[in-house]
Amino acid sequence: MQDIDIREVGSHVDAQVRLSGWIFRIRSSGKIHFLHLRDGSGEIQGIVDEGEVAPEVAKLIKKLTTESSVHMEGVVKAEPRAPSGYEIHVANLEIVSIADNYPIGKKHHGPDFLLDMRHLWIRSPRERAILTVRDETIWALRSFFKENHFRLTDTPILTPTSCEGTTTLFETDYFGEPAYLSQSGQLYLEALAMSLGRVYDFGPVFRAEKSKTRRHLTEFWMLDAEMPFCDYVQSMDIQEKLFQYVAKHIVRTCASELKILERDPKKIEQLTKPYARITYSEALKELKKLGSDIQDGEDFGNDDETILMQKYDVPVFVTHYPLAIKAFYMKPDPKDDTYALCSDLLLPEGYGEVSGGSQRIDELELLEKKLKEHKLSQKDFAWYLDLRRYGSVPHSGFGLGLERLVAFFCGLPHVREAIPFPRLLNRLRP
Ligand code: 4AD
Ligand code: MG
Repeated sequence: MQDIDIREVGSHVDAQVRLSGWIFRIRSSGKIHFLHLRDGSGEIQGIVDEGEVAPEVAKLIKKLTTESSVHMEGVVKAEPRAPSGYEIHVANLEIVSIADNYPIGKKHHGPDFLLDMRHLWIRSPRERAILTVRDETIWALRSFFKENHFRLTDTPILTPTSCEGTTTLFETDYFGEPAYLSQSGQLYLEALAMSLGRVYDFGPVFRAEKSKTRRHLTEFWMLDAEMPFCDYVQSMDIQEKLFQYVAKHIVRTCASELKILERDPKKIEQLTKPYARITYSEALKELKKLGSDIQDGEDFGNDDETILMQKYDVPVFVTHYPLAIKAFYMKPDPKDDTYALCSDLLLPEGYGEVSGGSQRIDELELLEKKLKEHKLSQKDFAWYLDLRRYGSVPHSGFGLGLERLVAFFCGLPHVREAIPFPRLLNRLRP
């Protein structure tokens, strides 16, 4: 007899196998029992006929509870009416552990209860589908970069400075001096781009977001990319190709997950089409027409992004934001230096900004001036200034938030379900 994953049953029809997993549903009809087993690779129904198994096995069935862990032996049968196409005619059952009364049932639970139970909630079909889409998204992002000759590299999490402004920094004590958890690997990635060429990093970043919104986590996964000899338009071209590639991959590989999530694949296919590009000033005019109370020069709030996207069913790059509301490193537009050579990519259906990028300042003097204006220490950024001193080149990059993208693919109302263990303003547990 062979130990196999549920995923493999199709190649073992009429053979005796042993599966290992958790019982997620038990149904009985007289002396016939239906044990629904999952093992992470799939789900299958095991059928136990009390008349055909040893009396000890029949006794074990009476003890079984939801989420008990078991080994199940039996013969694989093709069953066109079963969701997986197969079932197991159980000959023997071995209990690994009997579960206590499982707290998550079929009845409706509120979001706070489910988040408190996140360590168990992740076992549900919906959460497994989301985490599967997350895995496929990560692999597709990585394949795109591999195919396009980007080097994967790593940037530090403990840093002495901020990247995206000082208001959302998590501070920690680093042997007596203050250190901050990284908000984005960008600055270090710029250094690596001057060594390795096109590069990307991918890892957790941290922002002490004091507001509760459906788009913000305090710990999330960011992918930063950085490209030497690249302007902000070429950077948008790369982003467009990247998101198109990943969306195609998700539609191709996650059909059953999208079905569980009741997410229409057509919505995801919108990301495979050409994207719109408008300037901040055009977007501002549009927003005012659509009834937003936004003032000239203000950054878009979540609501503004949602209102603006009513008009679009494809993603939109908004370019040329006012320099004053953007990070210190962004290159001013030579045509009007009150605007930045930057872009935010907004997703349809109110999912908001999924990636932000810009051309970086490549002149030493201007960068020094900007550090002063932003009250950032020349000393701490000396190494960053060196990049402009030793063979500076025009370069651009962007960072994308994985959970925003996964939330879009899965049609989630909140990014908190797009990460296994969400960290939010009011949540550090479990
Ligand atoms: O727009 P942001 O702040 O850009 C940067 O950090 C740049 N340094 C990136 C770069 O150019 N390499 O963040 C990038 C993306 C956003 O577009 C958004 O998708 C996501 O990160 N993001 C968040 N996701 C979840 N929770 C939060 N609190 C987020 N803040 C930003
Ligand atoms: Mg941004």
